[in-house]
Amino acid sequence: MHLNKEEEKMYQGEYGITISKSMEILVALGDIYEAPSLVDISSAQVSGVSYKTIGEAGLEYLEELSKNEINLVNIPSTLNPAGIDLDNWKSFGFPKEFSKKQKRIVEAYGKLGISETCTCTPYLIGNVPRLGDHVSWSESSAVAYLNSVIGGKSNREGGPAALASAICGKTAMYGYHENENRVATTIFDLDIEIAHLDYGTLGYIVGREVGDGVPYFKLKNKSTNNELKSLGAALASSGAVALYHIENETPEYVFAKNDEDFKSLERISINKEDILNTKEKLSTTSEDADLVCLGCPHASLEEIKEIAMFIKGKTIKNQLWICTSINIKASSDRMGYTKIIENSGGHIVLDTCMVVAPIEEMGYKNIGVNSAKAANYIPSMCGLNAIYDNFENLIKFK
Ligand code: F3S
Repeated sequence: MHLNKEEEKMYQGEYGITISKSMEILVALGDIYEAPSLVDISSAQVSGVSYKTIGEAGLEYLEELSKNEINLVNIPSTLNPAGIDLDNWKSFGFPKEFSKKQKRIVEAYGKLGISETCTCTPYLIGNVPRLGDHVSWSESSAVAYLNSVIGGKSNREGGPAALASAICGKTAMYGYHENENRVATTIFDLDIEIAHLDYGTLGYIVGREVGDGVPYFKLKNKSTNNELKSLGAALASSGAVALYHIENETPEYVFAKNDEDFKSLERISINKEDILNTKEKLSTTSEDADLVCLGCPHASLEEIKEIAMFIKGKTIKNQLWICTSINIKASSDRMGYTKIIENSGGHIVLDTCMVVAPIEEMGYKNIGVNSAKAANYIPSMCGLNAIYDNFENLIKFK
């Protein structure tokens, strides 16, 4: 792989061992994928944050890495969700030892200069690349949103690669950074209008079908941004989708359609029955949820408002968590939604989510979710039951 003079200096250690080691990771990746060069990036989003997923080895690695390095990261960079609400872990009952270690992980990232905002929807809090920007993001749902809805360019990076990119401000030029890999591979026709939960269900069906392909959707109706974030999360969890196109909606669909191979692509129809059957299969119990956990991917202000308006003035029977970032909660506080939710017995939970938090150690059994991604992961990653439905059906009142 070709390195320019500056990159060669970084690689050879002229700017210190951390930069040199990070360059080694990027060059090794570039060599594996036969990238011709590195490319400058405008932002990074780093996964590998929850103590539940990176454990003791990850904590030690990050503390060692950040020991002598202060603010090494010079591009906008944010973190994926952690395993706890960093401010309110005690009151929510997160395990003490886990919480202490979790805080050390986030502090180590912070020392390196990465923003300690832990969220899988960085595009809702100011980490927003522009059309065509090369970036290095690692949360799969965020990568799907970035490539498809924003039109930025990122591969589904692993945590260490995204961290190396954040430190160097570069990534290897291959995969979704190249236009030729951004064209559609399969066309999906829907013969019904869809809304809300259907987007996640559709994503789950199509992700299994296309694997790491690029689906092209012909929908009967327009989508909201919240629906697109659900669609991408599900596509990226049942499959390895990092980019999709929706006709007349997403920025690169024209480009995909104009590809000379487009007309010969396989076409698959999806009907109402497919959606209903898959929705049923994503629940693993018919019991009620003891914990309803919304905000996968992390909730937007509009989603919080919708939930607040639904529960306003009533008392909730099950536990309710709405997961989001500290930034979105600040807006919710100002709008009065947080108070409405808390008055009904619910909570806005920061920095974490139902999958990367140790909820299996917190006495819960049946987790209600309106996210196909969460329903897909909760049984395997938490060993708990998932109930997949609209939040209006999951929340029970006294
Ligand atoms: Fe985000 Fe957790 Fe879902 S990281 S996409 S809320 S599984």
